[in-house]
Amino acid sequence: MHVMCLVLLYWTEASLQNIVSTAQGQIQGVTRDGYVSYTGIPYASVKEGAGGRFKRGGIAPVWAHVRQPHECQCSARAAAEECLQLDVHAPPGAAQPVLAWLAGAGPYDAARLAREGIIVVIVRHRLGPQGFLCSSEDHIPGNAGVKDVLLALRWIRDNIVAFNGNANNVVLGGQGFGAAIAEALTLTPTAQGLFHGVILQSGTVLAPWAFNFDADDRAKLLRMKFNGSKEILTRATAEDLNTKADQLALPYLPFGMCVENSIKNEERLIPRSPYEILSKGVEIAVPMIMGFNNNEGYIFVSTLKEARVTRRMTKDMSFLLPVELQSNKRNAPKMMREVDEMYFANNKTMAAVLAYHRDAYFLSHIHRSVMFHASAPPPVYYYQFSHAGSGGVEEEPGMAKRGAAHSDELAYLFPSKGRDMEGDDGVVQGHIVRLWTNFIKKLNPTPPNAGNTLWSPLNPHDPKVLDIGVELAMVDFPYRKEAQMWEDIYEKYYFDRRERRY
Ligand SMILES: *[C@@H]1O[C@H](CO)[C@@H](O)[C@H](O)[C@H]1NC(C)=O
Ligand SMILES: *[C@@H]1O[C@H](CO)[C@@H](O)[C@H](O)[C@H]1NC(C)=O
Repeated sequence: MHVMCLVLLYWTEASLQNIVSTAQGQIQGVTRDGYVSYTGIPYASVKEGAGGRFKRGGIAPVWAHVRQPHECQCSARAAAEECLQLDVHAPPGAAQPVLAWLAGAGPYDAARLAREGIIVVIVRHRLGPQGFLCSSEDHIPGNAGVKDVLLALRWIRDNIVAFNGNANNVVLGGQGFGAAIAEALTLTPTAQGLFHGVILQSGTVLAPWAFNFDADDRAKLLRMKFNGSKEILTRATAEDLNTKADQLALPYLPFGMCVENSIKNEERLIPRSPYEILSKGVEIAVPMIMGFNNNEGYIFVSTLKEARVTRRMTKDMSFLLPVELQSNKRNAPKMMREVDEMYFANNKTMAAVLAYHRDAYFLSHIHRSVMFHASAPPPVYYYQFSHAGSGGVEEEPGMAKRGAAHSDELAYLFPSKGRDMEGDDGVVQGHIVRLWTNFIKKLNPTPPNAGNTLWSPLNPHDPKVLDIGVELAMVDFPYRKEAQMWEDIYEKYYFDRRERRY
């Protein structure tokens, strides 16, 4: 039923030196090439009692013996305890800068960044219904997974000094949904002081796939899967919850972030919609790196081919519109005409479909968000990652990969075993690792006298991006008219309507 942590068996005499003492107890590390890994450290527990599993975590467990390294199996199906854990990868040194990277379930190899003198903390959090169920009727406040990250950040503040880290130099980062969660934490004063910079790669809390305005409806549908019984909802196994959530076939993630229900004794992290908070000014304004990949949509290429999308388009295009816009039946045809004109006029090709997916699901939302952040004084460094290399999503036969797909940049920052890449890939890896590590250390990706192409902070009146490829260059934001069209559509038909509801 529950996937248990696997205790690693390579505990040797030599590594006995790597024992760190925390308030919870002692932790055994494993020596790697140039750093020490302390894996599977629990930073919170699940509270007992009805619905405790969907709420803010309780205090971190303590232990009496030296805690052994654990490789955790966090997933939406796993027991929550499996996800309330973090790994610390610590190179030698004193008062070192810290990257808190939101990993969700994903494996991220921290070796490349740890070698640069950065403590990399891989933060897991509850996923799926356990992390994001949000139901006013069932007194489930929502955003448990975000609250997990908050507890992990507090753990870092209180414990990272034991690993020679500097709690006053913490950068919070994530990609995709991880970026959306990291951004959500910039919207709550509760997280003030826990991080000093933010890196948001290819994700934003403004994206409809990250944030559900219809969270209550989603929770109801899940409860119906359990025949309406509340008890089953609190007693069901993680596996069962997740299976039934998948069966709902809801658009995007079955459960994303939500406007939190107000429940006694529960701290509210997201009391209003992120759009409303952002449009009035962020709560925690710190230096930020934010950006997108120029061919995000390529990650969907095999799915789109299988679904024969280009063929279906010749008959009727309306199925292409994002679901949250389709539900506006009266205006959907009008929106589709605008989209059609922008992307598909005389061009019903897969390349056009990919450009459309990049913008509809990623770029347009990221651009709207970055403009909000850039209106606060701290610098916002805006990028476009555009290298089509051997790292990341593989090329689909018959469809040339132009540029970088969603998640490609991770292959350069978190390569397996910290591998140094070769040729052009190596050049690009050198760039991105240098820019990111400078930012983590100095909150400036191109500090003075570093001899790099200067990455200037975003000026919202004249948006430019640093194009990251084999060459580095500041270029005009390349998708102004596309972003403007989406901005108009979402302002008029999505956010505006939502605001009146909340
Ligand atoms: C719900 O009811 C149906 C039909 O009575 C039953 O087959 C199913 O097992 C029930 N599901 C749960 C989760 O109790
Ligand atoms: C079709 O759209 C793609 C993606 O925007 C673009 O690269 C390509 O040049 C376009 N082709 C034509 C014939 O306009």
